[in-house]
Amino acid sequence: MNFYEFLTENIEQIKHSKLYRRLRSFSSHSGPYVKYNGKKVIQVSSNNYLGLAGDVRLQKAVSEAVKKYGVGSTGSRLISGTHELHTFLEEQIAEFKGTERAIVFSSGYNANLGTLSALLGEDDAVYSDELNHASIIDGIRLSKAQKFIYKHCDVDDLKRLLSENHYKHRLNVIVTDSVFSMDGDRAPLKEIAKLKETFGAVLFVDEAHSFGVYGPRGEGLVHELGIADKVDIQMGTLSKAAGSKGGYIAGSSELIEYLTNKSRSFIYSTAPAIPSIAASIEAIEIIKKAHNLRKSLYKNINYFKKRLEEYDFNMIPSESAIFCLKFDNIDETCRISEQLLDKYNIMASAIRPPTVIIPRIRFCTMALHEKTDLDYIVYSLAEILGKNN
Ligand SMILES: Cc1ncc(COP(=O)(O)O)c(C=O)c1O
Repeated sequence: MNFYEFLTENIEQIKHSKLYRRLRSFSSHSGPYVKYNGKKVIQVSSNNYLGLAGDVRLQKAVSEAVKKYGVGSTGSRLISGTHELHTFLEEQIAEFKGTERAIVFSSGYNANLGTLSALLGEDDAVYSDELNHASIIDGIRLSKAQKFIYKHCDVDDLKRLLSENHYKHRLNVIVTDSVFSMDGDRAPLKEIAKLKETFGAVLFVDEAHSFGVYGPRGEGLVHELGIADKVDIQMGTLSKAAGSKGGYIAGSSELIEYLTNKSRSFIYSTAPAIPSIAASIEAIEIIKKAHNLRKSLYKNINYFKKRLEEYDFNMIPSESAIFCLKFDNIDETCRISEQLLDKYNIMASAIRPPTVIIPRIRFCTMALHEKTDLDYIVYSLAEILGKNN
């Protein structure tokens, strides 16, 4: 078989399994509505929780920084790529998260990949929720640690695995998403933090979907729950509520010093470009004071939940801005997502294996959605599913 036959056969196989994916490009500002194929559609699949991706304050900060400093960072962080804006952003994140230091990666994916693979050696063990994000799974795969996958949000299962195995290993690292990206539920972080103390483990929490959204100033869920001091490694992304691009790890000075020297995705990649750093700095300043935006987001979350509950939709119980409607098969999931877009001008993505086991449509509410948008989404779903009679 030649190379092109190999590729074609694989693509055919993906299509045959109904798992073929294609890119959909929009051509407007990224907000609660976007232009897609020349039409205005409601965007309810983005992670732009606070609407900052299209915010004029971020635009202004980026244009000023680009005018002053140019665009590219010119090299990796340890060679020529560390601009004073990178240093400022890291100090700002540490101050915001209440940690000694922070380190910024080019994405949240790289933060997880580079941290887990740098920390975990063959003498170590990692305990990971079965629904953790792919970047955590890949970081663990790159390490030589023994891995224990505990049942989703199941504290008893985690406890069992820790008690059977912790004494055999140098480090025992528990890793979990705070809000699960494809289910919308939350990890039982308080209980997990207790187990961490009982077993002398290290706790790593991925706040990708809670940074900017929860906590008194938007610091994240561990701050909302008052357990930030129990979390050794606080990871987050600047690409979702912050509306920019990048990822961070916040923690002790020793942790950041270690990662600076050992994390391959940090060391061997060009430093994030000026626009994303300038946007992130501005976004964090906004997030600290964005009480009204967060209030609007919570109001929308509660309203959307209440409206969805009026129907017997097959929803996964949500504890966040993420709402997922489950289906029995991939065909139906894709068909309904396409119908929402083509007929009702609603962009809500179909999520299929291997991202998830059970296919679903994922809806993400934003602070900037109007009540009428949410009503219209629920009405459209009920129309398609024949539940409006
Ligand atoms: C839970 C979780 N962790 C990490 C990431 C990766 O972050 P980023 O998109 O900044 O690479 C994502 C998003 O895709 C996520 O949902």
